[in-house]
Amino acid sequence: MGYQGSKSLSGAYQAIIALMPQHQTYIETHLAGGTVQTRKPPANLIIGVDRCDQAIDAFKQSDNYHRYSGKLELNCCDVQDYLKSYPFTGQELVYADPPYLLSTRTSWHRYRYEYTEQQHFHILIGRIFKSRMRPILGN
Ligand SMILES: C[S@@+](CC[C@H](N)C(=O)[O-])C[C@H]1O[C@@H](n2cnc3c(N)ncnc32)[C@H](O)[C@@H]1O
Repeated sequence: MGYQGSKSLSGAYQAIIALMPQHQTYIETHLAGGTVQTRKPPANLIIGVDRCDQAIDAFKQSDNYHRYSGKLELNCCDVQDYLKSYPFTGQELVYADPPYLLSTRTSWHRYRYEYTEQQHFHILIGRIFKSRMRPILGN
């Protein structure tokens, strides 16, 4: 699916996948079409998180949903709530692909859920980089 910001449009997903360390559990926050998740070698457990129910429903309609059934868990909720309660063991890799900063957008496309610059800083830098998880941040 061609989401604004999708890493398939620029071919960037190969570079992101090449950066990934070994992991047992792969968590893709801000899943939408799951461009990276659906192109990387599958982890033992794959977790997708997106706050938008339409994005989660669309993913469930895709072939990828059935392709990974049994090892894929989808969560429709706020990423911050999810990461706060997740019991990290050190075996997880988190790939976060939040909406681009509005101030850097060249398109008028808007998601149902966006971040202010302050939320970008607090949620992503505060939550993702201060925790025990190993993160890769797209954007
Ligand atoms: C840049 S897109 C993700 C593109 C996706 N990685 C792909 O490859 O298609 C950003 C996504 O973040 C989701 N989002 C925005 N705020 C969120 C939040 N607080 N928690 C979880 N997801 C959120 C939006 O619903 C949107 O689907």
